[in-house]
Amino acid sequence: MSEVETAASRLTNSDMRKISELVYAKSGIALRDSKRAMVMARLQKRLRQGGFATFADYLKHLKRDQSGTELTAVLDAITTNHTSFFREADHFHFLANRVVPALLTRRASRPIAGWSAACSTGDEAYSIAITLLDRVPIAQHDRIRLLASDLSRQAIQTARIGVYPMGRVAHLPQATLRRHFERGIGEQEGLVRLKRSVRRLIDFRELNLIEVTSLRATFDFIFCRNVMIYFDCEARQRVVGMLERHLTPGGYLFLSHSEGLSEIKHGLRWCVPGVYRRAGP
Ligand SMILES: C[S@@+](CC[C@H](N)C(=O)[O-])C[C@H]1O[C@@H](n2cnc3c(N)ncnc32)[C@H](O)[C@@H]1O
Repeated sequence: MSEVETAASRLTNSDMRKISELVYAKSGIALRDSKRAMVMARLQKRLRQGGFATFADYLKHLKRDQSGTELTAVLDAITTNHTSFFREADHFHFLANRVVPALLTRRASRPIAGWSAACSTGDEAYSIAITLLDRVPIAQHDRIRLLASDLSRQAIQTARIGVYPMGRVAHLPQATLRRHFERGIGEQEGLVRLKRSVRRLIDFRELNLIEVTSLRATFDFIFCRNVMIYFDCEARQRVVGMLERHLTPGGYLFLSHSEGLSEIKHGLRWCVPGVYRRAGP
């Protein structure tokens, strides 16, 4: 029997229920029983690292840990960070061709503000920054203000550094690569890094969507894609309400193509697949 199978058998119904309740309370992520194998596989490493023989022992430790470190590790392990540069490319066309031109007609003193609200390892936030840099006249680049946040500490750390394997950006046009990325040399061969001109635009922060209370800013557009699919209806309702409050009048909310707001109460207007708009000028 493999190590995974040995420890996997120790995740009892009660352990699974406790983990699900904790993860739901802290993140809004609803772990159905079908996720059991995923939970077991992803938490194995923590059990091994801490020398815990069973999930029950690990859960006791998790409950005792006042620092929050272990909870962060659990959420890091459970969250699905899959993402890519210019994922669902038509959203970036919409941003470039519909949203930005309208924002450029406003007073030049007004910032162009965007939020990538579950940015994972940063690919989405950098795709937004590149889109803006390519569309906003150079003289107005200092109007661009971007916030990018995620629950996962590890993901945010990766995002801040902005270094990726070359394969992650191989599908981008050569001109984009030349303009916005630096190629690694020597020990960094095979890696690329976003240029400082892109990185400096983004404020990366650890932020939990279901606990956002102290964010004062409002945004002309918010990307919150491929995250609410992990939430139940109640958590989705809370997060959509919060996002709506953080949109400027006329601001846009981008969800993924597979997400809709059908069961959610909101005051937004549907624009194109996955994109909604708050009423306003
Ligand atoms: C599948 S990724 C999507 C990344 C990107 N938005 C995209 O579409 O490519 C989902 C991200 O949501 C984050 N996440 C899950 N629950 C969250 C919460 N309550 N608050 C903030 N981020 C959360 C995860 O850590 C993960 O990085």
